[in-house]
Amino acid sequence: MKLTIIGTGYVGLVTGTCFAEVGHRVICVDNDAAKVKMLQSGGIPIYEPGLEELVKKNVAAGRLSFSNSTAEGVANSDVVFIAVPTPPQADGSVDMSFIERVARDIAGAMTEYKIIVDKSTVPVQTGEKVAETIKRYCKNQVECDVVSNPEFLREGFAVEDLMKPDRIVVGVRTQRPVSVMKEIYAPFNAPIIVTDINSAELIKHASNSFLALKISYINAVSIICEATGANVQEVANGMGMDERIGRRFLNASLGFGGSCFPKDLSAFIKIAEELRYDFGLLKEVQRINASQMDRFLKKIVDTLWVLKGKTIGVLGLAFKQNTDDVRTSPAIELCQRLQKEGAALRVHDPKAMEKAKPLLPGVTCIDDMNDVAEGCDALVIATEWEEFKKLDLERARKHLSHPILFDGRNLFDPKEMEKLGFIYKSIGR
Ligand code: UGA
Repeated sequence: MKLTIIGTGYVGLVTGTCFAEVGHRVICVDNDAAKVKMLQSGGIPIYEPGLEELVKKNVAAGRLSFSNSTAEGVANSDVVFIAVPTPPQADGSVDMSFIERVARDIAGAMTEYKIIVDKSTVPVQTGEKVAETIKRYCKNQVECDVVSNPEFLREGFAVEDLMKPDRIVVGVRTQRPVSVMKEIYAPFNAPIIVTDINSAELIKHASNSFLALKISYINAVSIICEATGANVQEVANGMGMDERIGRRFLNASLGFGGSCFPKDLSAFIKIAEELRYDFGLLKEVQRINASQMDRFLKKIVDTLWVLKGKTIGVLGLAFKQNTDDVRTSPAIELCQRLQKEGAALRVHDPKAMEKAKPLLPGVTCIDDMNDVAEGCDALVIATEWEEFKKLDLERARKHLSHPILFDGRNLFDPKEMEKLGFIYKSIGR
């Protein structure tokens, strides 16, 4: 099929590339001319495992191309996907201006029937607004169908999630676009659930909020574990074996971050408020998440006492493993708060150092994770990168003025760490 994806961020670029990989002809459109130029010349603006190879392969096969013209994309495709940002605003609501702008641009370029699919995470009832906007701005008065098709990929695992989805959600107003949507997704061999548009939009916000709730729940349990000498990982393992609960997203941490959970929680709370429902449960999820960071910082301050004049090594800057994304990263917040307390920082992240630098003036970036501890008073793990598990602990212990390690991601075994001579403080263990 001939598809256009508008927006080449994490969702748009990965979606477009995977659609090309399964045989569709895809044009990825972005209004950022520099980004389009970079993509056209073989560059990739984000780090996502496996993406670069797939982009190269599909560009070479002639199935994937890039453009900064929405009109070109619309003219050359049957289905147009909207995958532009919906950034948060100060009051928790989302800025819909990019979606609105794209809807108008698509409307202006339409000369025949098109299917317009929203992939961006949007408040419930956005599909209705998009349909209205397109109708209003389409001079040629041609018909179109608006579809909601939320995306569930995780950064750092985006290609994998997209190629092997748990489910495909297709929200429609009429049955007309259903067969085309099924055809687009047939190669992915996943269950397709067809709903009304509002339900599809809600599935996304309700899913992300539920996953955030799961993390805050285990983080709250971790506090009880610390107070009683229990081990939160064992509790999570035992809970997770119940199929109704499941083990995933039960990893206690210094809190969740990123460009999705914090934003989507605020948006869902705001939407509920506008519908005159006080979603207190989700406000509590936010509160627990914020207090998790406070508690972790307190652990560091309680142990090291005065941070002014001390040097702390921080492993991890990205908001999670396998990504260079530092948006709303708990690791960055932690660094900023440690700096505020007067600590000097030596930091390392396998992929996110470049993007983190402007947010952390004054830190010393270290290329090799095993050099970070040199001259430090303590070491902190802030992101769950797998490779941190391979840290040379013997070397770190020797480098540190006193062997203290704060683990905000529970990467190491407390007993082993004690045996190695560390004062080791993690979450809920
Ligand atoms: C999240 C959802 O998982 C995706 O399904 C969704 O498509 C995406 O948002 C989106 O709306 O675009 P993402 O934000 O990329 O994906 O990353 P996650 O893997 O969900 O992690 C989010 C945060 O939670 C990270 O800071 C991570 O470290 C933290 N986390 C995750 C925990 O603290 N504990 C866990 O057990 C799992």
